[in-house]
This record gives sequence, C-alpha cells and structure tokens, in this order.
Amino acid sequence: MDQNELGLRYRFAQGVVREAGQMALDRYRRRESLAVERKGRQDFVSEADKACEAFVAGALLKAFPEDSFLGEEGGLQNAGSAATWIIDPIDGTSNFIAGIPIWCVSLGLVIGSQSVLGIIYNPATEDLYAARAGEGAYLNGKRIRVSGARRLEEARMGLGFSYRRPVQDHVKAVSACLEASCEYTRFGSGALGMAFAADGRLDGYYEAHINAWDVAAGLVLMTEAGGWCSDFFGAPDTLIKGNVILAAAPGLVEPLRKLLAV
Ligand code: IPD
Ligand code: CA
Ligand code: CA
Repeated sequence: MDQNELGLRYRFAQGVVREAGQMALDRYRRRESLAVERKGRQDFVSEADKACEAFVAGALLKAFPEDSFLGEEGGLQNAGSAATWIIDPIDGTSNFIAGIPIWCVSLGLVIGSQSVLGIIYNPATEDLYAARAGEGAYLNGKRIRVSGARRLEEARMGLGFSYRRPVQDHVKAVSACLEASCEYTRFGSGALGMAFAADGRLDGYYEAHINAWDVAAGLVLMTEAGGWCSDFFGAPDTLIKGNVILAAAPGLVEPLRKLLAV
C-alpha cells in the first residue's frame, strides 16, 4: 500500500472511531437499559459493543472494499487482503457496564505482521490517540513520548488479566513487580493500558495473554512514541489466537524482560 492510500485510511479511520465513540457514549449514559450477555468468566458483551462494531465494519468495508476486517464480536470479514483492520468496539466492557469511565474504541490496521495505523478513543475524556508508522504518535494532535524511566524502583506497570490464563500467571507477575519495588495498576482496558504506556503515564504494559483487537492500535502507538513492544504478530495465527504482550519504555526493556520472562 502506498503512503497516499495509507494517509487516506488514517484520516478516515479517525473520523469513524470518533463517531463510534459517540455512539458508545450515548449508550453508556443509558446503560441500565442495555442488553448484556456473558461470553465467559468475567467476559461480557453489550448491545453497544455489537452496534459500534457493526457501524465501524460497515463504514470501513464500504470505503475500502479491498481490505479485510476483524472485529472482536463479528470475527473476520472479507478475508484474504494483506491489510486487515482490527477493531475492539469497546475495550473495557466491564468498566463500561459498571459505569466506570475507563473504556475506549480501539482500531488498528495491520499489514503483514506490522501494525501501521492505530487509533484509540476514550469518549468520556475525549482523548483521541493516533499513530501512523514512521509519522509519530499523538494525543489530541500533540506528539507523545514514552517515559524516561530507567529503574524499576521508580516505575509503574499496567498489568492485565483475563481468565484465558491461569490465575497463578497473573499473581506471579504482580508479585515479581512488587518484589522489584515496581508499582503496578490494573485498569481493565488493555488498549488504554498501551496508550498510557505510550504517553508516559505508565512505564509499560504486560499481559500474559491478550487478543489482537486489544493491542492492534496500541502496538504502533507505543513504537511511534519511542517504546519497545514484544513481537506480538510474529507468532503464527495471532490474529485468532492472541499472544503475550510486553510494552516498555526503552530504559526498562531489559529489566522487564528478565523480570517477566518475555
Ligand atoms: C479485556 C480488557 C482487559 C484485558 C483483557 C481483555 P474487553 O477486553 O482489555 O483489560 O485484561 O485481556 O480481554 O473484554 O473489555 O474488550
Ligand atoms: Ca478488549
Ligand atoms: Ca471488547
């Protein structure tokens, strides 16, 4: 794909994500009336997730019929293109349902095994993160950079967990951080965890297993902000199976890889 085509997609995607965020926010404000289903242990989907994903899929497939599309709720559509849009319509659904304003719309474009566009929008704070490979990472139009932390003792990690992995894996990661005097926090949105690592609010993000739609946008955001990410798309079938993720500020890559065995 040439740079003009990529630029077109970058601009279009930001508008679509903002619109999807407004749709989600409208439903968040009347969340008591939303139908919610349980997909697994502590894993929920509301009618807002489905409506937002259908809206984004429809808009992207109409504008770019040659691209593939993968959504958390609807799966893969138009398979076979080298370029795949990957969306999590609401990342942080548990927070969304509970009325905690830490959730977002996350949209990435992956070509081959590289995330080349990433947009993460938190409608409750109106924060829009956007990154394009080679062009930098931005929050509301302002360039962002990862933190300059060099010592675990001064750092704060975002740690995520889902029941897709044994409880003990998470307990081990929490205890490794605390033993190393590294603070940790768990927000319940992997995409916002990656965004906060990209703008230096956190010094990194780790989760033993995460899905492609949780990190497709965060990966390019993090690297364009000067950070390091484990090779999420390097393993086979990660679009479907997911992978481990470690994202870190450059000064903490080696200590965190050792600490978390990544
Ligand atoms: C989950 C959140 C959570 C992370 C899980 C994800 P959902 O996504 O990002 O923070 O730890 O791995 O599945 O269900 O809110 O879209
Ligand atoms: Ca998610
Ligand atoms: Ca989701």
